[in-house]
Amino acid sequence: VFAKPASAVTAPKAPSVEGSTILHKRILAPGTVLLEVEAPLIQRRWKPGQFVILRPTAASERIPLTLVDSNAERGSVTLIVQALGKTSRVTSALEPGQKLASLLGPLGQAAHIERLGTVLCVAGGVGVAELFPVARAFQLAGNHVVALCGARSAGYRILDEELRATVAELHWATDDGTHGLNGNVVDLMRAWWAVNAGEVAHAHVIGPIPMMRAAAELTREWGVPTVASLNPVMVDGTGMCGGCRVTVGGQARFACVQGPEFDAHQVDFEELALRNRAYSEQEQAALRDHECLIGLGR
Ligand code: FAD
Ligand code: FES
Ligand code: MG
Repeated sequence: VFAKPASAVTAPKAPSVEGSTILHKRILAPGTVLLEVEAPLIQRRWKPGQFVILRPTAASERIPLTLVDSNAERGSVTLIVQALGKTSRVTSALEPGQKLASLLGPLGQAAHIERLGTVLCVAGGVGVAELFPVARAFQLAGNHVVALCGARSAGYRILDEELRATVAELHWATDDGTHGLNGNVVDLMRAWWAVNAGEVAHAHVIGPIPMMRAAAELTREWGVPTVASLNPVMVDGTGMCGGCRVTVGGQARFACVQGPEFDAHQVDFEELALRNRAYSEQEQAALRDHECLIGLGR
């Protein structure tokens, strides 16, 4: 009666996690770090616009992060994480030599890259991390890429050098006016358009939901086809949980498998904003408990 069930005796041990070691870490801005992670299988397959779902520790929830870059010699991929709530803070606190508990990818559809002419790549905050590989791919495909990026302040800009070395034009807006235009990235779009109206074939926008919504309203007025890379709450990233459901052109879509890129003029941004706030009470409680444990030295 008290003998162990056969399955418990014979069950093979779960395979140990191969790869996913943090190889390198760099602070890009206050609260934002770059992690180079060993992931040879993902490195060989990923395309701009795709992402991974990871757990920093075995006790963590899953979070999605964009694939920013890769290195074939090192069999690695680059991720950029902004410490926002509990799990992104735990992720950004990892140090070289430590392993992620799990890493799944590449996920989602790659960005649609074509030779179109002048392409406006617009990003706010950590959205610049997703913008970089997409802007680079558009530039390599023979487009004239204009990157318009927004940050809170000069010291919060990320990937400035990398973008500058890659795209035809790079302009910044900062909320406090410490670099570039004093204002947000939508103000920067208006200012750029005032002298370049009519020249844009396509726009790609990524960032906080109100920013994407305002950018899409503007490009609708301009008559410029626009895609937005959406950031709904994702759990499994494989189309099974329904967490990332968005409405595009009146149709339900799962951003993890059918996106994250969609026609920005068709996206129901109001619903997306509501759904992203759905768990804010639990997220705040998780962060409070986490900070309390850190305060206790744990
Ligand atoms: P919480 O306190 O739990 O949540 C804070 C807010 O983050 C929430 O209100 C919600 O809006 C959002 N969020 C929470 N959980 C999730 C989740 N499981 N999935 C998506 N959003 C969530 N951030 C980066 O810093 N760098 C990136 O490259 C990046 N790429 C992303 C790519 C995609 C396709 C998506 C969907 C999101 C991406 N994000 C990225 C956002 C990142 O996933 C969230 O900041 C992170 O999940 C927050 O988790 P948390 O526990 O730290 O914060
Ligand atoms: Fe579960 Fe997309 S994250 S369906
Ligand atoms: Mg969380």
